[in-house]
Amino acid sequence: MDQILFKHNRPDRVISFDEYCAESGFRALRKALTGMSPEEVQQATIDSGMRGRGGAGFPTGKKWSFVPRDLPGPRYLICNCDEMEPGTYKDRVLLEKNPYLLIEGMALAGYALGVEHAFIFIRRGYELAAENLRRGIVEAERAGFLGRDILNSGFSLSLEVHQSAGRYICGEETALMNALEGRRANPRAKPPFPAVKGLWGQPTVVNNVETLANIPAIIDKGPAWWKSQAATPDAAGTKLFCISGHVSITDCFELPLGMTLGEIIDGPCGGMRNGSNFKACIPGGASTPYFTKEHWNVPMDFDPVAKAGSRLGTGGIVVFDHNTCMVAVTLNLVRFFARESCGWCTPCREGLPLVQHILERIEAGYGEPPDIDILHEHVRHLNHAFCALAPGAMGPVDGLLRHFKDELSEHISGKCCPFRRDTTHTC
Ligand SMILES: Cc1cc2nc3c(=O)[nH]c(=O)nc-3n(C[C@H](O)[C@H](O)[C@H](O)COP(=O)(O)O)c2cc1C
Ligand code: SF4
Repeated sequence: MDQILFKHNRPDRVISFDEYCAESGFRALRKALTGMSPEEVQQATIDSGMRGRGGAGFPTGKKWSFVPRDLPGPRYLICNCDEMEPGTYKDRVLLEKNPYLLIEGMALAGYALGVEHAFIFIRRGYELAAENLRRGIVEAERAGFLGRDILNSGFSLSLEVHQSAGRYICGEETALMNALEGRRANPRAKPPFPAVKGLWGQPTVVNNVETLANIPAIIDKGPAWWKSQAATPDAAGTKLFCISGHVSITDCFELPLGMTLGEIIDGPCGGMRNGSNFKACIPGGASTPYFTKEHWNVPMDFDPVAKAGSRLGTGGIVVFDHNTCMVAVTLNLVRFFARESCGWCTPCREGLPLVQHILERIEAGYGEPPDIDILHEHVRHLNHAFCALAPGAMGPVDGLLRHFKDELSEHISGKCCPFRRDTTHTC
C-alpha cells in the first residue's frame, strides 16, 4: 500500500506550499480543469468506491449526485472539521501536517459540484490547523489554484475558514449549517436533505476532511488505483486510524482499509502495553459499540464492522486492557454525551442524564437488578431520537449490555466495582 494522505508529511513540521507543489501537488486539479468535465470528476469519485470518513460511511460520489443541477442560486460545499468525537483526532493530524491536500480536494469537489463558495468549519482549539489552512488558502489563491477563473478554466472558487463555537453537536451536518448561519446549533429535520436544501436553503454538500483530502489522489492516479490501496477486494482506499489507550504505540496511522483489528494492534501499535491482555476496544470513535477479543479478526472496513455489530465510524480506536472496568469506561463516555446533548428533544435531554445517573449508581455499588432493564429500554428508545447523537451515545451502553453483562451484574451483586476496592461498599 502507498501512503496517500500522509505521503507528503514531514516528521516535525507542516509541509510548505513549494514542497507540496514540487511533489505533484495541485497536479490533480490541473488535470481536472484542463481535461475533465465536472461530471467526470464526480464519476471518478463514484467509481473509486470512496465512502465518507466522517462517521456514517455514506458513498461520497453518490452524495454529490443528489445535488440538483437545475435549481437557481448558489450551491455550497462545507468541509466538516468539527472533530469532537472522543478518541478521534485524525483530521487535526492531517491538517497540522498538510493543509494543501484538503484545499486541492475542495477545489476538485467544488468543480464537480458547481460550487463557487465553500466553507471549512473547524473546531475551536484547532488553532494550528486553522492557521495552516488560512495561510494555505492565501498561497493557493496567489498561485491561481483558488479564486477567480482558476487556471483559465472559467471555474471560480473561494474558501472560507470558520471556527466553531465548540460543541459536539456542531459536527452534525444540519446543526453545523445552523451554526454557520449564526443560529443556535440544533439539528434540522431531514428530509429535506442538505444536498437539496442546506445552507441558506440552497443545495449543500457536507464532507469530512479525510474524505475531501482523498479526492486529489482519486483524480491524479485514477479510481482503480485508489481503490486497490485497501487490504481486501471489498474495501476501498486507505483509512486514518487514530489509536489511543493501552497499546505500546499510540498514534494516527494511515493504513489499508480492511486490515483486521488484530493486525492493527499487533502491527503498527506494537501490541498491548506492558504485556497486558486485550480486553476490548471502541472501534470507531466514542459512539460505537465495543469490540472484544472475539472481534480480533474482523476486517476494519465499513460493512464487516457493521456485520459484527458495531460501526467503523471515524476510525478512532481506543484500546482497553484486562484491568479496565467497562462500566467506568461507559460512564465516562455517557457523561460526555449527556453534557453535549443539545437539549432540543426530551428523550435525549432527559434520558442521557438518567442513564448517566444509573451507571454512576452501579459503579458506586448502589445498583439494583432492574437498572439493567432500564438501560436496555434506553438503548431501544434513544435509537429513535431526533438526531444521531442519542443513538450514538447509547452505542457504548449497548456494547456494555451485549458483551459485559456479567461485569455489570457483578457490580450490582457485589455492591461495588470489582476493579476498585475503594468504593462505598466492600465486595
Ligand atoms: C453528533 C454528531 C457529530 C458529528 N461530528 C462530526 C465531525 O466532527 N466531523 C464529521 O466529518 N462528521 C461528523 N458527523 C457526521 C456529519 O453529520 C456528516 O455525516 C459528515 O460530516 C459527512 O461527511 P462524509 O460523508 O464525508 O463522512 C457528526 C454527526 C453527529 C450526529
Ligand atoms: S437527539 Fe439530542 S442532540 Fe439530537 S436533537 Fe435531540 S436533544 Fe439534540
